[in-house]
Amino acid sequence: MFRVGVLTGGGDCPGLNAVIYGVVSRGLQYGFEVWGIEDGYKGLLSGRVKKLEIEDVKDVYWLGGTILGTSRKNPAKSEEELKTAVENVKKLGLDSLITIGGDDTLGAAKKLYERGVPVIGVPKTIDNDLPGTDYSIGFWTSVQTIAESLDKLHTTAKSHKRVMIVEIMGRYAGWLTLMGGLAGGAHIILIPEKKVDIDEVCRIVKERKERGEPYTLIAVAEGVTIPTTGSLVVASAEKDEFGHVRLGGVAKVLEEEIIKRTGIEARSVILGHLQRGGTPSAYDRVLGIRLGYKAVDLVKEGKFGYAVVLRGMKIESVKLDEAASGLRKVPEELHEFTNVFTY
Ligand code: F6P
Repeated sequence: MFRVGVLTGGGDCPGLNAVIYGVVSRGLQYGFEVWGIEDGYKGLLSGRVKKLEIEDVKDVYWLGGTILGTSRKNPAKSEEELKTAVENVKKLGLDSLITIGGDDTLGAAKKLYERGVPVIGVPKTIDNDLPGTDYSIGFWTSVQTIAESLDKLHTTAKSHKRVMIVEIMGRYAGWLTLMGGLAGGAHIILIPEKKVDIDEVCRIVKERKERGEPYTLIAVAEGVTIPTTGSLVVASAEKDEFGHVRLGGVAKVLEEEIIKRTGIEARSVILGHLQRGGTPSAYDRVLGIRLGYKAVDLVKEGKFGYAVVLRGMKIESVKLDEAASGLRKVPEELHEFTNVFTY
């Protein structure tokens, strides 16, 4: 029996279970056995797997998170672990491996492929910062959550005539902040791709007040560098296995700066992991199932070393090299949308 292994790595996001559903459903159609690897690469290194049947996925494809569990374990951290990961694929009798994850997971998948593991990647991250795919799984659900959160913050900010600064995830890319801020009507949108001018932010805040606009809502990306700090604001400088620090706190720094410079009352909010939780949108469910199908189609064709991606309306495949070739930032032609509600 041909065995397909599937794992989810990195931060979770809504839509992962839909991909897993697609993989299991398509796999069973082809007569494959599908084995779920628990907790991402951590489970691969310790050989923790379970066989997946349609019963395991049919009632959960619409749930957020991942039924397989996830981790930020890097199997390529050392040559020894990489060797163990490759050996375990063989020991577990897996004829192919589908890894669902962001840049770290896909980058590690590429290394496994280079060591002879038949791998297919599926891009996911709420950050939407992966090259090769138009949108990654989880992004639009997260944008919806951000927009709904901003809707709520408008009413409290307006009632208290305050400046409200909302910190949004996304690491070094501003996709979530731009699209979430746009959908939620943020008056000022600050993204890592565009230099922040605090004097200008304070000028807009004051000018709005003078014009009789009682409040200002600011959406700020966690990965923004503001001139007063000159560097990223981190919640913890400790690095994970892929070398990432934990970003967090830039909204608070901005809050203090705005109060100091304008004398206007301000509050900051970190949306945090609320943005990653919850049930996937219809869009992410459908995209997830389609990507899962395509991943297994590539397995059937024996076309390994590829990632399945969304290009326009189509699900296509690109080499893992391309899918894991660094971060995709918000392009300049979209920067003007940071100012849509600045009136
Ligand atoms: O990469 C996805 C992401 O949600 C980032 O936007 C965020 O900075 C990070 O993960 C948070 O990671 P953790 O769940 O480890 O706190």
